[in-house]
Amino acid sequence: MTTDQNQSPITGEEFVAALNHENQEALDRLGRLSSAGEPPQELSIDRLLRVALKNELEASEIAAVWMATTSELDVKLAFARQAGDEARHYRLISDRLKDLGVDADAIDPREGGYSALFEYLRQLQSTTARVAAGQFTREAIAVVRNQCFIDFCEARGDHQTASLYRDIIQPDEKHHHELGWKLLERYATNDNEQQVARQAAGHTLELAEEIQEMARLKAGISRAPGC
Ligand SMILES: [Fe+2]
Ligand SMILES: [Fe+2]
Repeated sequence: MTTDQNQSPITGEEFVAALNHENQEALDRLGRLSSAGEPPQELSIDRLLRVALKNELEASEIAAVWMATTSELDVKLAFARQAGDEARHYRLISDRLKDLGVDADAIDPREGGYSALFEYLRQLQSTTARVAAGQFTREAIAVVRNQCFIDFCEARGDHQTASLYRDIIQPDEKHHHELGWKLLERYATNDNEQQVARQAAGHTLELAEEIQEMARLKAGISRAPGC
């Protein structure tokens, strides 16, 4: 992937640190939007956990699709691990919904179709773009959103759901982001790959913001967790 003629003056390490810095502004905005205003009283934890099921399913499925179609062994295995983690999150959330009295087995998060973010991610072919969009950026978004959701759960007095996110799900999402960071350092080592990575990260953030704003305007949903 890296050739001497095409070697960027910016190393993979420098590039990822800069990209992280650039992403931060959009992530801060997402966090502010997600926790803006007073949430409507009818916005319940179980309603948000249903949104979470959809996010976890999509994150697991994308990682599984990519696992099968990525040739770099370290990236393939990172996607495999992520696919399993996100499926475990799905099960934990589903169990929590049952504790809350919801018939979670009757929920099919595919109803209403997959999100625009899923469709965008699914068609990405470049390994660098996949890591930049799916792990490095999407997982950073999840960490920001989950924190807003944890604060919301605590404010509503649901300490058990807050603890599920804080103690079990959040550490995994942080790990996915950090895996993405390491892999991106390894593969985004020339101008071309860095440009591809930057574009994929930027588009992921744009789509995430659009989807979040639409959910808030159409259904009054804010504070929804990520994946
Ligand atoms: Fe994740
Ligand atoms: Fe997850």
